[in-house]
Amino acid sequence: MSTAISPTAYNYKVVRQFAIMTVVWGILGMGLGVFIASQLVWPELNFGLPWTTFGRLRPLHTNLVIFAFGGCALFATSYYVVQRTCQTRLISDSLAAFTFWGWQAVIVGAIVTLPLGYTTTKEYAELEWPLAILLAIVWVTYGLVFFGTIVKRKTKHIYVGNWFYGAFIVVTAMLHIVNHASLPVSFFKSYSAYSGATDAMVQWWYGHNAVGFFLTTGFLGMMYYFVPKQAERPIYSYRLSIVHFWALITLYIWAGPHHLHYTALPDWAQSLGMAMSIILLAPSWGGMINGMMTLSGAWHKLRTDPILRFLVVSLAFYGMSTFEGPMMAIKTVNSLSHYTDWTIGHVHAGALGWVAMISIGALYHMIPKVFGRQQMHSIGLINAHFWLATIGTVLYIASMWVNGITQGLMWRAINDDGTLTYSFVEALQASHPGFIVRALGGAFFAAGMLFMAYNVFRTVRASNPAEAEAAAQIAVVGAH
Ligand code: HEM
Ligand code: HEM
Repeated sequence: MSTAISPTAYNYKVVRQFAIMTVVWGILGMGLGVFIASQLVWPELNFGLPWTTFGRLRPLHTNLVIFAFGGCALFATSYYVVQRTCQTRLISDSLAAFTFWGWQAVIVGAIVTLPLGYTTTKEYAELEWPLAILLAIVWVTYGLVFFGTIVKRKTKHIYVGNWFYGAFIVVTAMLHIVNHASLPVSFFKSYSAYSGATDAMVQWWYGHNAVGFFLTTGFLGMMYYFVPKQAERPIYSYRLSIVHFWALITLYIWAGPHHLHYTALPDWAQSLGMAMSIILLAPSWGGMINGMMTLSGAWHKLRTDPILRFLVVSLAFYGMSTFEGPMMAIKTVNSLSHYTDWTIGHVHAGALGWVAMISIGALYHMIPKVFGRQQMHSIGLINAHFWLATIGTVLYIASMWVNGITQGLMWRAINDDGTLTYSFVEALQASHPGFIVRALGGAFFAAGMLFMAYNVFRTVRASNPAEAEAAAQIAVVGAH
């Protein structure tokens, strides 16, 4: 056993920084979500200004919640998990610090440029070329830090959570770089290197795999570490986790064309996307079951542990959205759901129920550990947050199901003489109550984030980071 103790065994500083910014961006991104949801109820909130219109703020919402909130949660947890499961410090503190400041710079760039109207117009890839290049540099550096740390690990084995994080990092780099290939014509304007149906296909290959690898695979890495930790049980089946990994990453990459049903894309490509999406149910549910079953013998903990509740309920929403997704990928179902609020409901079942809830659960587990505290300042507040988040998600998705199916049916209804039964405005009027319920659900969810901010603030104020690092040293030395 080695007794040499490095001055600080783990780099928790960068984990702390990303963890705090997850909460900050979560509040801003979701607050903006509530604002744009309110614009759909009260259009006056567009204020008649170009910068505050729904069309410009919507992409800012998606960029803030996916890349700022979700991204910071992934950076924070992956840096934490890779160090602890590899029993070694990050390979470079300065490169890790660069990823933190670089990532925040990209987000600030998005906050400035998107309301000004600078956009590539590609959904989830809106940032113009200077910011896209910065993002690529930060991402490649992230890969160097993550994989460099894996290479210098002190354990023989690479824990399965790191496989998921690793695939998320590699594939996101590939998607971002390929989809952003473009010709700049001025400082904030570029044209895509692709055209027509090819451009659409590349964009939705990117878009769908942004969902598959950014919003799913990375968060599954989180699941494989934090669910067993919080339940204090080993993962239900290690063998299933390996099958889950290979099946998921092999299948996801083919499903993109389900975003382009009934378009100029060749029909065989649409059918391939549909078939692959249906098969994707199997690995998705395999992963969900693996997470859920980890609680075997520990279910009673759900009564007293709201952090575990966040993690388990997130898996339930993951199961729900990955059942709904394959169903919506069937062409005949998609002919009803596409363009309607059903898609928006599906998105937020995944985004609020899965992505946000698992991140929140993981942060409540991790924040006390990296700030040298036994636990969060208030467990009661975590419990209140849990209920606000769950009720908010259910209100959001239930209202969007009702709206989506109503819209789809009203748009396709025809009279005997072949004319449309309803005008577009009539369908919009029928959607109004659903828009109100969605805004209310969103407000519940965002209010829960404010509870979290207060709880984190009190925990951090009473913190002792030096103690956290000392505890980490002991863990490392003990494990040699
Ligand atoms: C097996 C898993 C899944 C499948 C097969 C699937 C399938 C689908 C389908 C068919 C659509 C509608 C496409 C359209 O009509 O335009 C869609 C939209 C979407 N899904 Fe999923 N989904 C899955 C899981 C998820 C999860 C877990 C999330 C989030 C974390 C998610 C996020 C999204 C987003 C953001 C969109 C909207 C894309 C856009 O049009 O902007 N999906 N998905
Ligand atoms: C308080 C919580 C939230 C509220 C109130 C909210 C509200 C909204 C609204 C109103 C839209 C536009 C819908 C439309 O165009 O009809 C939207 C779009 C979207 N939101 Fe959220 N959102 C919230 C949280 C989140 C989170 C946490 C994520 C991701 C992690 C997310 C991801 C998205 C995505 C991907 C879209 C685009 C969907 C598409 O194009 O199909 N949202 N959100």
